[in-house]
Amino acid sequence: MNVIQKIEPLRTRLKSQKLAGETLALVPTMGALHEGHLALVRRARDVADRVVVSIFVNPLQFGPQEDFARYPRDLAHDVQLLADLGVDTVFAPTVEDMYPLGNSWTRVEVTTMSTVLCGRTRPTHFAGVTTVVSKLFNLVQPDFAVFGEKDWQQLSIIRRMVADLNFPVTIIGVPTVREADGLAKSSRNQYLSPEDRLRAPALYRGLQQAQSLYQAGERQVEALIQAARGIMEEAGIDPEYLEIVDPVTLEPMPTPLDRPARMATAARVGGARLIDNIGLG
Ligand code: PAJ
Repeated sequence: MNVIQKIEPLRTRLKSQKLAGETLALVPTMGALHEGHLALVRRARDVADRVVVSIFVNPLQFGPQEDFARYPRDLAHDVQLLADLGVDTVFAPTVEDMYPLGNSWTRVEVTTMSTVLCGRTRPTHFAGVTTVVSKLFNLVQPDFAVFGEKDWQQLSIIRRMVADLNFPVTIIGVPTVREADGLAKSSRNQYLSPEDRLRAPALYRGLQQAQSLYQAGERQVEALIQAARGIMEEAGIDPEYLEIVDPVTLEPMPTPLDRPARMATAARVGGARLIDNIGLG
C-alpha cells in the first residue's frame, strides 16, 4: 500500500493503473477511521480493481465555531487499518496541498439541497463538501466513489452534483454501520461523555419507533415525528431538526405519505452534534 501526500505522485501512480485498464474506486474520508469507514472500503474493493482512500480533514466544510481544530486525527493508525484491507493507495494531503496559497477559493455548490436539514445551521458546510469531493474526483478520476448512508444529505447532494455536472463516476451508498446499542458509528462519538454515550442511542431508537409505526400503517407525518420525538425527549435529547423528506430531493414530504421517504435528524448530545436517518418504506 502506498501512502501519498503530494498531488503529482498521486496522478502519476493512478495514471499508470488506468493505462493498465484497471478500474478505480475512491473512498473519501476525514480519517479517525472506524468500522463505518471500513465497510465503505470493503464495498469499494468488491466493485473495483484498485481502491484509493483519501484522508483529509477539510477546513472548507467546518464553520468558524465548529470542531476543525479538535477533530480527531491519527494517520498512523488509519494507515495500519487500511493496509490490512487491501487498499492500494492512501492519499493524505495537507491543507496547503489541497488549497495552496494564491488559490481563489473556487467553489462547487449544489444550491437548493444545501440549505435544508443540516444546511440550516451549517450554511457553508455542504459547499465545502462538494468542493473538496469535486477536487478529489478530478485528482483521482475514479470509476466509482463510495459514501455512507449515515450522512444521507451528503450522499444525496453528491448524487445531485454528479448528475448536474456530468462527473463520469458511479456513486455507491453503503448502509449505516452501528454500535451494538444502535448508535451510528462516528468519529465524533469520541466527544461523548460516558453519561451522554448512554443517552445517545435514543436518537436511533426514536427513528426506529417511527419506522415501526410506519410499518404498522401510520402515514401521518406529524404522528410519526411526534413518536420519534417522544423517545428522544425521554432521554433528554431535543433534536435540532426531525423531518420526513423525499429521499432524493430532500424536500419535505406531504402528509399522508404516499411513497417511500427518509426520516432525518440531528441533535446535540453533550459535546457532540450527532446525525442519523432511517428509511420509511
Ligand atoms: P467522514 O465523516 O470521515 O466520513 C467518510 C465517509 O464515511 C462518508 O461517506 C460517511 O458517510 C461514511 N461513514 C461515516 N460513518 C459511517 C457509518 N457509521 N456507517 C457507514 N458509513 C459511514 O463525510 C466525510 O468524512 C466528509 O464530508 C468527506 C465526504 C470525506 C468530504 O470531506
